[in-house]
Amino acid sequence: MYGCGGKNIYMAVEPMHHHKIIGRELHTFSSVASTNSIALQMAQAGAPEGVTIIADEQTGGRGRLGRVWQSPPGVNLYMSVILRPALSASDAPRVTITAGVAVAEALTRFCPGDVSIKWPNDVLLKGRKVSGILSEMKTGEHGTIDFVIVGIGVNINSDGDCLGPALCHSAISLKEVLLHEVSRAEVTNEVIMSFDTWYNILISRGFNDVRKQWRSRCAMMGKEVTIRDGDTTFTGVAEDIDMTGALILDAQTSNSRHVISGEIIITGECICC
Ligand code: BTN
Repeated sequence: MYGCGGKNIYMAVEPMHHHKIIGRELHTFSSVASTNSIALQMAQAGAPEGVTIIADEQTGGRGRLGRVWQSPPGVNLYMSVILRPALSASDAPRVTITAGVAVAEALTRFCPGDVSIKWPNDVLLKGRKVSGILSEMKTGEHGTIDFVIVGIGVNINSDGDCLGPALCHSAISLKEVLLHEVSRAEVTNEVIMSFDTWYNILISRGFNDVRKQWRSRCAMMGKEVTIRDGDTTFTGVAEDIDMTGALILDAQTSNSRHVISGEIIITGECICC
């Protein structure tokens, strides 16, 4: 049995039967180390695709590149979804890109005109990070995917100072832009609905529609960016993402390269202008 006996503290977020996959089974918790860790255990124990874990607080929230994801209680969204797409493991980044498109679409309903995507999968609000996505995968036989856990964090009602001094200039919440609190249940429902729609597009029609949508929401397309990958940094004009989710720099030149890992370093005040 894969259930973990989650307590339902998100009363307004009920499993919705019009959800084809994501959110059709919800497990909600008041406090966990990391929703990704709970989802990982449940997936290992055989939980089906679509099982979604939400917590009110994380005491060990994980970010990309070994970072901590600040997860104060009662204010933000911390959610992980178990997916079992019939894709090869090398195409798993498509699922994360799809989640980024979905979160950007959902948040645009609250802050039209202010939301953009930063490669590989940060969602920005007025040029500052409002959401991050951490995907963790277990491969199956012959290069297939057994499961992917897609972990999504969205800063909804946190104040800059509660995310700590390191983040208060680079991170932002919906509340800080809208100047009023936003219902976490409403944001959660929008994210789930949007992710369900885009994931169904990905598995039924392939990656092209998702990729097109990602490109149109990415703030960096056509701009010069600097990328840090470990100890190396390099610069180029961001042109597109390829079918594996890699960022294409300087497409038409002899310096053209496809970047599969690293992060864009933001110089100047605001990357969206
Ligand atoms: C990033 O570094 O941008 C990714 C952050 C991902 C945070 C989410 S919150 C829900 C899930 N559980 C975790 O421990 N991390 C992800």
